[in-house]
Amino acid sequence: DIYGSGKPPVLGTVDIQEIEDKARDALKDNPSAFLYVLKGAGTSSTCAENRRALDRWKLVPRMLNDVGERNLEITIFGVTHPAPIFVAPIGAQGLMHNDGELATARAAAKVGVPLIVSSVASRSMEDVAQAHGPNGHRWYQLYWTHSVEITQSLLKRAKANGYTALVLTVDTMVIGWRPHDHGIPYSPAGHGFGVQQGISDPVFMGRFGLEPRHERPPFPYTQESIRNRAAAGDPAAQQAMLLGKGWVGEIASGIFRSWDEIQFIKDNWDGPIILKGILAVEDAEKAIVLGIDGIIVSNHGGRQVDGSIGALDALDIVMQSQKVLEAQSSGKLTVLFDSGIRTGSDILKALALGAQGVLIGRPFMYGLAIAGEAGVEQILMQTIADLHITMGLCGFRDVKDVVGGREKLMVKMS
Ligand code: FNR
Repeated sequence: DIYGSGKPPVLGTVDIQEIEDKARDALKDNPSAFLYVLKGAGTSSTCAENRRALDRWKLVPRMLNDVGERNLEITIFGVTHPAPIFVAPIGAQGLMHNDGELATARAAAKVGVPLIVSSVASRSMEDVAQAHGPNGHRWYQLYWTHSVEITQSLLKRAKANGYTALVLTVDTMVIGWRPHDHGIPYSPAGHGFGVQQGISDPVFMGRFGLEPRHERPPFPYTQESIRNRAAAGDPAAQQAMLLGKGWVGEIASGIFRSWDEIQFIKDNWDGPIILKGILAVEDAEKAIVLGIDGIIVSNHGGRQVDGSIGALDALDIVMQSQKVLEAQSSGKLTVLFDSGIRTGSDILKALALGAQGVLIGRPFMYGLAIAGEAGVEQILMQTIADLHITMGLCGFRDVKDVVGGREKLMVKMS
């Protein structure tokens, strides 16, 4: 029952702004954790632009179509999913809640939407896979490290743990200029010094002469507490600082050198490869030439380049390329979208411009901060419910008819 059968919502509200406010409150003892999620690069103008780009398009609902039975199912890489919604790869979820990615994975499995797991997760990909279970569809997001051996180790682990597709994030050659994270040693080890993906990797840990570890660090995930404990001589905290810096240094120093090296990823991954962070038509077309299976048009939720194009505007432009349209309609290229999606209407707009699915980012992190697994579950369910209602109200009964149907569904206001 996607409408929650009359029960009060676990987050106390389904209003997305109120949920953000509640998350701020839930994290009041660790405000830098909240700001890490909320803010973008520079002045956060790209975050605002993402919303403006969505707001410029207006839906034009059509009446008296039979929409009694609606279908949100969408097929991606041969797998049919219940809704065109994915859980975005977001790092360091241990900052929001002790269960971090485990809670998110359980919620995604319960709702049945695919989960994309970050390279900088607070939990190891093995533990997340276990929490997600044998029936969940999960993809692994790779930050391409400058170490060939570590990259190969991550890909091997992902394959062995049931991650079926690879999301290669290409917009993070370095981490964006983020004033609100300034002074937090990057890592903050993935903020929170809880990034397990690194310390659970045998190749990475081998460099320090250590065994891979899967347990959560035995202290709260705040930068201050770990810094203080390290300074006071706590060996576990010192190790977390060292490894955290090493790991983020590994992923953040020259991850992505050139298009030529895509071949390395293709040689080392058996399954679909999706490039996340595409904004320019030329890059989308290059991806097609290289035989890439999918792109995620995204500006990383405004966290990389302040003053960059709103993600939906980029989608609009990319989807006017004949090469992209042909690759998509022949089934060679899957197009997904994220950055700014908050409501069912937002999803309809992205689909109408040609995306086959969208990634939900910050909202589920707020749900996680407030109520753990149940909070993430609510966010996913309420988003599906909103989409289900709003699609019907616009006169559509099948989400597949929305994809690419911009003329039928909406107009752009200046
Ligand atoms: C992200 N995002 C991200 N992307 C990625 O490929 N790997 C990562 O580790 C992260 N980490 C991350 C942390 C936080 C706190 C946020 C908010 C975002 C980007 C994410 O996948 C997605 O592109 C954006 O969140 C989408 O924008 P909205 O929906 O949050 O506006």
